[in-house]
Amino acid sequence: MTAPLRFGLLGWPVKHSVSPQMQGAGFAALGLAATYELLPVEPEHVAAKVAELKAAGFAGWNITVPHKGAMRRLVDTAEPAAAAADSVNTVVHRDGRLHGYSTDGYGLEMATREAFGCPVRGGRFVFWGTGGAARATAVHFVLEGAREVVLVNRTLDKAVELAALLQRLGRTCQVATYAPEPTPALAAALRAADVIYQCTSVGLKPDDPCAIPLALLQPGARVMDMIYHPTRLLAEAKAHGCLVADGQDMLLYQGARSFHIWTGQEAPIPAMRQGLRQALGH
Ligand code: ATR
Repeated sequence: MTAPLRFGLLGWPVKHSVSPQMQGAGFAALGLAATYELLPVEPEHVAAKVAELKAAGFAGWNITVPHKGAMRRLVDTAEPAAAAADSVNTVVHRDGRLHGYSTDGYGLEMATREAFGCPVRGGRFVFWGTGGAARATAVHFVLEGAREVVLVNRTLDKAVELAALLQRLGRTCQVATYAPEPTPALAAALRAADVIYQCTSVGLKPDDPCAIPLALLQPGARVMDMIYHPTRLLAEAKAHGCLVADGQDMLLYQGARSFHIWTGQEAPIPAMRQGLRQALGH
């Protein structure tokens, strides 16, 4: 009998992660002999940990905060979106070489299609927050042919920096930046958007305020929070008449693409969704 394939999640911290249950449900549904382990590692020890995983014969792993940038520098190859965003969240270990991918953008794209029926190609999107999560996903959206990307961030310089990268990648994509102030120009940009993504960390804590001022949101606007727990934004935007979705399906589909990259098989979405919901206690 061959030994099970080993996969895992590198991050700091990782103990809250629901990926083991989600990926485990996928492996079980297809009868694959594979395991998925939590691999906590502090930033200064990432390179040593990766050497250890290679030596132990791990077939691949996911990477979460704060190591996605560091992993980009540890892989032998990176797909275009991962290289451009300087972010690797999925690694395949094959014949002693490491291949890096970024599946967050695909996750957001599929979640958007499922929640709102909106395709990325030709679409207009607002990213509220321009940290690592927004960068990885916005790069994917531009490479996939989004028509307009609007970046809103408390620290405007960071939005401007990301805008410059996006503009280099997608010359036909319109990119605009705003500070998060309720100005008429920002209100108009939000009105024109197909989907507004909440990408800041505001909402991770239960007593956090609403991340986007309601005065800027029109009833009927489509709002997705990348946070996968209920947030004040989602509750208040829904009461305001917006169409809302949380980050669960983004998490599901980024994991589904990792599953496909590792196994070569189509990810069993219903089983993985069930595993994810159980892990989240739903
Ligand atoms: P992630 O990898 O999850 O995107 P990150 O890279 O630390 O995390 O980015 C966090 C994002 O949340 C940034 O856009 C940050 O804004 P700044 O660039 O101004 O720091 C945003 N953010 C965090 N706390 C915030 C707050 N209290 N109000 C508004 N934005 C906040």
